[in-house]
Amino acid sequence: MSGVPQSNPQKTFYLETFGCQMNVHDSEKVVGTLVQEGYRQVETVELADLVLYNTCSIRDKAEQKVFNRLSDYKKYKAQGKTFGVLGCVAQQEGEKIFERAPYVSLVAGSASYRNLPQMLVQIEAGKQRVTGLDDRETDECFETEFTARTNPHRGYITIIEGCDKFCAYCVVPYTRGKERSRTSESVLAEARQMADFGYTEIQLLGQNVNSYKDSEGKPGARKTFAELLAAVGQVPGIKRVRFTTSHPRDFGRDIIDAIDAVPTLCDHVHLPVQSGSTRVLDAMQRLYTRDQYLERIAWMKAAKREISITSDVIVGFPGETEADFAETLGLLEEVGFDAVFAFKYSPRPNTPSLKLDDAIPDAEKARRLEVLMAKQRQIQIARYKKYIGTICEVMVEGRNVARAQWIGRTSHNRTLNFTAPEGAIPKAGTYASVIVTGSFPNSLLGEMVV
Ligand code: SAH
Ligand code: SF4
Ligand code: F3S
Repeated sequence: MSGVPQSNPQKTFYLETFGCQMNVHDSEKVVGTLVQEGYRQVETVELADLVLYNTCSIRDKAEQKVFNRLSDYKKYKAQGKTFGVLGCVAQQEGEKIFERAPYVSLVAGSASYRNLPQMLVQIEAGKQRVTGLDDRETDECFETEFTARTNPHRGYITIIEGCDKFCAYCVVPYTRGKERSRTSESVLAEARQMADFGYTEIQLLGQNVNSYKDSEGKPGARKTFAELLAAVGQVPGIKRVRFTTSHPRDFGRDIIDAIDAVPTLCDHVHLPVQSGSTRVLDAMQRLYTRDQYLERIAWMKAAKREISITSDVIVGFPGETEADFAETLGLLEEVGFDAVFAFKYSPRPNTPSLKLDDAIPDAEKARRLEVLMAKQRQIQIARYKKYIGTICEVMVEGRNVARAQWIGRTSHNRTLNFTAPEGAIPKAGTYASVIVTGSFPNSLLGEMVV
């Protein structure tokens, strides 16, 4: 943990995180704030005075998990533990959580974490129910004063919060509110600080990083997302810069130009397509067509370095026909993604697609998901084979003792597990050259080159 002074830790907290990387990073902010207040983080609910769940509501299953957790731990309330629900389910359900889980004392959304100390003081003073629910419309800064860096090798930096896209199926605009960007100066200051802490890899985060809008300086001097990316890539000491997530509509060619020009920018782009059918994309209110998506793919394929492209797909959106689904399968073939995260459409509260007719039965959604994943597996098997014999630089992430292998990650964001020669002990967080000797659908195998 860096940058967080530890003040006489007595009270303890347990924090479990669900959902996306933004939630993971928000949890780092929560940990930083609580440690600063004198709390100590513990590994189990049993050891904790304060139990927090940082929740996700992107799909129904994710939301159910939270309420299952809360019912599991009902018995602990008698021991005087305090329960809090943070994150997207907290923001979405608000005070209704107190009705569903009466032993919860704190319900707080992601924009309120800087106020956690005050909220906890109220609970300690005996207040039964405390909320930190933002109206989601303020421009207030979402940064906390302290952040614990729980990932020792990758430093996360939020550059933009919220989302203004309102895709028909998605809860995020309702849970994280409207788009708010940080100034480029504050992003760069944090990047420099992380380099000082010894980080060599930075990941810029936002639900839509390409919608980034700098408010620093005169309009002409404000950085675009691509300029900010390039500037972070030029911070001394930084060797790898990643960014997620990109929305196809705002994904400009200047991002590819930046990747071409700045070698520290990783050659990996996650560009969720959701569907290969323009008709379905229109119903999803995604604001781009199949052809526009493929145009962006063509830009990436014309880049100087090979860019690894990954995506998200939703199957079984209301009204999705066999022909629409076939178009998605065809798109997978055409693009050749390195990984696809595929989900069955899940109807969510507040979203416009809740009202759409032509729901696809769950069994059919499951069938489409299986067909899609099998197809993508074949694509990956063929793609990953091509790297056998090539030498890749990996960041060492850890060791798999059972297999006597080290775990590495390439700039393309592929996992490359490798063996090292006698006597060589690669250190986590350092970089190694590895020759690829084998491939699997989701990872590569190799030997360290010394
Ligand atoms: N901002 C990103 C996505 C964030 S949510 C983007 O626009 O691409 C992560 C992924 O969850 C989405 O890409 C989508 O594939 C999936 N998802 C979101 N809402 C969903 C829903 N209601 N049902 C199923 N999958 C969903
Ligand atoms: Fe959700 Fe669409 Fe915003 Fe992504 S762009 S977070 S899918 S509303
Ligand atoms: Fe989930 Fe909220 Fe992230 S809904 S995916 S934790 S923005």
